[in-house]
Amino acid sequence: MKKLEQMYEGKAKKVFRTDDPERFIVEYKDDATAFNGQKKGTILGKGAINNRMTNMLMQVLEKQGVPTHFVEELSERETVVKKVTIVPLEVIVRNISAGSFAQRYGVEEGIVFDEPTIEFSYKNDDLGDPLMNQYHALALKLATKEEIDTIKSMALKVNAVLKEFFLGVGIKLVDFKLEFGRTTDGTVILADEISPDTCRLWDKETNEKLDKDRFRRDLGNVEGAYQEVMRRLMGE
Ligand code: TMP
Ligand code: ASP
Repeated sequence: MKKLEQMYEGKAKKVFRTDDPERFIVEYKDDATAFNGQKKGTILGKGAINNRMTNMLMQVLEKQGVPTHFVEELSERETVVKKVTIVPLEVIVRNISAGSFAQRYGVEEGIVFDEPTIEFSYKNDDLGDPLMNQYHALALKLATKEEIDTIKSMALKVNAVLKEFFLGVGIKLVDFKLEFGRTTDGTVILADEISPDTCRLWDKETNEKLDKDRFRRDLGNVEGAYQEVMRRLMGE
């Protein structure tokens, strides 16, 4: 497959067109941002880790019946994915209070929920990705009712599979963000990435943070945390 011109550059990835109209190539960068791009930095080796980790987890999810955009890992940082148009919703699933949830409701981090929660943000950098309920998403025609139902049930399935999977390597899946896309025939599939950039991951015994909060909150040893997750997941 031939990598053609760049179509899009996001904060952590670039997307390229290919000679196959149904396939894109994504390339993961070491660039890191937080707080809607106000904080900028580099996490050395992050692109390679996020690429390999996302691909591994997407393959686990496919086996469990969750359709994903993953096609083939091309190199350390590059992956062939199915061409989709991204549904402009960030879908956040939480198992334990942290981050904006803890802030918004004035509660401590670390409260374990009886049931996972789902929330949506409108994927719109100019507006700072505002929180949005499903009626607002419908009103703005960001997705249909059926798509929203599919997205919610897929998000809960992803949570059930990944929570168990991470626990097996001594990690609590606190919360995470997913993005979904529509293929050419309109099927909704899981897209984007699943990595320490987009998940909160805490050590099961010590609650040590093994994710991008180390960068967001200047906790130090950012690279070490990404490498530790990789080591536990892939044995290296
Ligand atoms: P939050 O607590 O800041 O709302 O974040 C919830 C989860 O979503 C957390 O695992 C980090 C992830 N996330 C992203 O992947 N991208 C974002 O832009 C934000 C704000 C959060
Ligand atoms: N990546 C997002 C940004 O730069 C936010 C985050 O992950 O905290 O805005």
